[in-house]
Amino acid sequence: MSTSKRQMRLGAFIMATGHHIAAWRHPEAQADAGLNIDHYRELAQTAERGKFDLVFVADSPAGWDRAKDPEALRRTAQGAHFEPLTLWAALSQVTKHIGFVATASTTYEDPYLLARRFASLDYISKGRAAWNVVTTGADVSKNFSIAGHPAHADRYERAEEFVDLVKGLWDSYEDDAFIRDKESGVYLDPDKVHLVDHKGKFFSVAGPLNVGRPVQGYPVIVQAGASEPGRELAARTAEMIFTANQTLEDAQEFYSDVKGRLARYGRRPDELLISPGIFPVLGGTEAEAQANYDYIQSLVHPSIAWNILARHYRGVDLSGYSLDDPAPPLPDNTELNKSRLKLVSDLVSRNNLTLRQFYLAVATARGHRTVVGTPEQIADAMQTWFENGAADAFNIMPPVLPTALTDFVDQVVPILRKRGLFRHEYEGTTLRENLGLQRPPNGFALQVQQQKAQAAV
Ligand SMILES: Cc1cc2nc3c(=O)[nH]c(=O)nc-3n(C[C@H](O)[C@H](O)[C@H](O)COP(=O)(O)O)c2cc1C
Repeated sequence: MSTSKRQMRLGAFIMATGHHIAAWRHPEAQADAGLNIDHYRELAQTAERGKFDLVFVADSPAGWDRAKDPEALRRTAQGAHFEPLTLWAALSQVTKHIGFVATASTTYEDPYLLARRFASLDYISKGRAAWNVVTTGADVSKNFSIAGHPAHADRYERAEEFVDLVKGLWDSYEDDAFIRDKESGVYLDPDKVHLVDHKGKFFSVAGPLNVGRPVQGYPVIVQAGASEPGRELAARTAEMIFTANQTLEDAQEFYSDVKGRLARYGRRPDELLISPGIFPVLGGTEAEAQANYDYIQSLVHPSIAWNILARHYRGVDLSGYSLDDPAPPLPDNTELNKSRLKLVSDLVSRNNLTLRQFYLAVATARGHRTVVGTPEQIADAMQTWFENGAADAFNIMPPVLPTALTDFVDQVVPILRKRGLFRHEYEGTTLRENLGLQRPPNGFALQVQQQKAQAAV
């Protein structure tokens, strides 16, 4: 093994029964996975056995809307699952090394409460927490006593303020603020407690937080929006970006664009890791992999197929179409998930897809890259992107759980290791250390130091 070679990072992107929309019907799937803690424990431990950097769950604070399509609701397993921070707090107690990425929304959460929960998770997991910062593409406003879903630009403006405020709250206590000297009776140094005293466009928050500075300084900041303001937010504030790309060219464009933005914020390219998703369909031979792919696609019920299409063709009447008609152009005016709409529009037009081919292309992983092949071919597909300016890391998106994660760990990870592309052992104890990211200094302590230095001049 070459120790100097650049190593890829791996995340297990967990969707309860698997990423494929019909995964729960597969004979190998755990049908009640979303609410089965034993299932998630097995997944986290399998990923840790494979020395993955992290496990990640996506989230949106809303269930499926029955009124929109009761038949699709009847047939989907994606509506009920655990709240991410609660889940990860439990699983941090049955693992030692793996990091935990929890999704939480800057549009629908409160910064003080969120800062407190993530700081707690960082302590509970001993430095393995990460926050996937999302602005929430879907309109879930009806659950939050507000008039409507804020526009895309407004959501990102709020996200910028939100992230800064949360970081400020995490700096409430300097790392050495707690003295806890029983002899003298001094517990805390008040000079090392700081008030964020924030008054901005969206929030008014005094501080301090009621949790000490997180073990990692800040939990690792992940971001998952790829529109223009999404990229900018990531370049300024994030340390890892989750992305969906179909082609090497698109992934390279995204990679160089986002890395190119960092210098403007005084950051180096290696301070933000880029992690595209990959949906691997494995087989012992190419033919077996293809048969596995065809089988899982055969499980998509027609009502789910039409529901997938209706969700992409908002406001378009598809009643006159059959599945074998060419897919019409997608409507291009969304205030929801702008980058994903562009990705699927490009997919349809680049490949001249029929409606059937289109729903099958997104039934797998909602627009993420699908690779069907032998373990060697999956490893090749990852290596090509890793070595050609398209990825620092990968979000592995198992089609069916728990088996597809086990198969990946047992069949693909050893190949990546043999090629010197992936670790044999964890390097550090915190997620930040394993990802090769620095522990950020306390912003307030830095200011105090700078003031002292100026006074001394
Ligand atoms: C891998 C990945 C995971 C995501 N996970 C979530 C999620 O859990 N919840 C959510 O609301 N949005 C999620 N998103 C969507 C984005 O965070 C973002 O809200 C959306 O892409 C709209 O912003 P954009 O137009 O800037 O891309 C995810 C995106 C990617 C690529």
